[in-house]
Amino acid sequence: MSDRPSIAVLVSGSGSNLQAIIDASERGEIPCRVGVVISNKADAYGLTRARKHGIPAEVVDHRGFGRREDFDARLVEVIRTSGASLVCLAGFMRVVTPVFLRAFPHRILNIHPALLPSFPGTHGPRQALEYGVRFSGCTVHFLDEGVDTGPIIVQAVVPVYEDDTEDSLAARILAEEHRIYPMAIRLFLEGKLGVRGRRVLAKGAGRIPAFSCRNPDA
Ligand code: GAR
Repeated sequence: MSDRPSIAVLVSGSGSNLQAIIDASERGEIPCRVGVVISNKADAYGLTRARKHGIPAEVVDHRGFGRREDFDARLVEVIRTSGASLVCLAGFMRVVTPVFLRAFPHRILNIHPALLPSFPGTHGPRQALEYGVRFSGCTVHFLDEGVDTGPIIVQAVVPVYEDDTEDSLAARILAEEHRIYPMAIRLFLEGKLGVRGRRVLAKGAGRIPAFSCRNPDA
């Protein structure tokens, strides 16, 4: 057993962000271990990824619960039993209720494949393409009671190209997700994040140089 704090990761699908978190943990880049992985879908590949690393993987199928609150109460129970001190939603495609939020106040992170507050919801890359923005990206934020509305911790920007498909843009964004999610977890666990209203201050974090760029570059 490691004495590093444990985190819980919730997934609904492939779990590539989960993999980035596990890898960062195993390389010692984030000061925690993944103590439990939970999915609402029994066939989520994220569960297989967890088991390959000897991490307990649990299925809590939302269809087995009459009310969202009952589903959330079961999630809370599994997470509490694991002893996790931080909850990371990583492609977890369920809207949670206050039952879940209030169990882990200011201790739930989410990742979203768009530059919030643009394009919240389930199809960030598709919405960005359809809207015609020239830049998109990804966001790690604290969860609050809205959909993708909580205080923003880290964002990364990528260009949108004219020949992009939803898949090519999603892949470019995903590569950045794999960088910023472990970074946000590290800042949180090092106690560097302070929330002031909507703004998150990251104490001691590096400041990027001021820059500007244009797309297209004509
Ligand atoms: C990621 O792009 C994540 O940002 C997105 O689902 C994908 C999961 O990929 N989440 C949302 O859209 C939440 N609204 P993964 O299972 O390979 O980590």
